[in-house]
Amino acid sequence: MTDTVKSIAILGGTGDLGGGLARQWSRAGYQILIGSRTLEKGQAAAKALLDEFPDLNVTGHENLEAATAADLVVLTVPFEHQLSTLETVKPGLIGKILIDVTVPLVPPKVGTVQLPESGSAAVQAQNFLGDEVQVVSAFQNVGAMHLQEDHSIECDVLVTGNKRAARDTVIELVKAVGLKGWHAGPLANAAAAEALTSVLITINRHHGVEGSGIVITGEPTK
Ligand SMILES: NC(=O)c1ccc[n+]([C@@H]2O[C@H](COP(=O)([O-])OP(=O)(O)OC[C@H]3O[C@@H](n4cnc5c(N)ncnc54)[C@H](OP(=O)(O)O)[C@@H]3O)[C@@H](O)[C@H]2O)c1
Repeated sequence: MTDTVKSIAILGGTGDLGGGLARQWSRAGYQILIGSRTLEKGQAAAKALLDEFPDLNVTGHENLEAATAADLVVLTVPFEHQLSTLETVKPGLIGKILIDVTVPLVPPKVGTVQLPESGSAAVQAQNFLGDEVQVVSAFQNVGAMHLQEDHSIECDVLVTGNKRAARDTVIELVKAVGLKGWHAGPLANAAAAEALTSVLITINRHHGVEGSGIVITGEPTK
């Protein structure tokens, strides 16, 4: 458990990746607020987790309520709804870290890298939110199906952000889901993680892999 973060709001936590993160972090002891566009859907997702694990601290909310109440917020919605969702929760994000997992996939060619004009979805989010919110990018290369199951995951997580302390916090949260997080530089470098996802999607399709991932080789000495 990190010193500064006890509660995590997961916006779009009713979906595949957010649902997987809710499952993993709640079981690691964090208070999880599942955010949705509708209260009922958020509550249903929380109930599904509690039916399986009754002792967890998980509740369902509308996105803004979840963002406002939590110590840290995670955005897990499709790219085309990234900015419209941030618009609805902006006041609840002030002074907080926002983990952005968005991959800027543009259907139908999701196996082709198509980064936005700003360079990456994460930089687009930071530009939209301004300096009062610290955007940290992570989890783009982890298949949601792995987080929804209880097996070890062969995938590392590239963590990018403009403030080292915020990256440290997110690396702790990566560890809490059983993965290894790497300081991968400033938020501009999120472009690399976001682009890699289209490469992984192509590998999945071409080689019949279910949720390929990345592993960084080499032993850290510091
Ligand atoms: N799936 C993966 O394996 C994976 C891996 C790495 C990164 N990612 C990234 O994670 C993000 C979420 O992916 P996902 O596969 O979990 O997506 P998803 O299951 O398709 O959708 C997640 C949630 O987004 C919300 N949503 C859907 N349409 C919306 C709209 N029109 N406006 C606002 N919110 C809407 C929904 O929540 P409510 O209906 O409850 O509001 C939905 O449950 C994406 O940016 C994706 O690139 C996914």
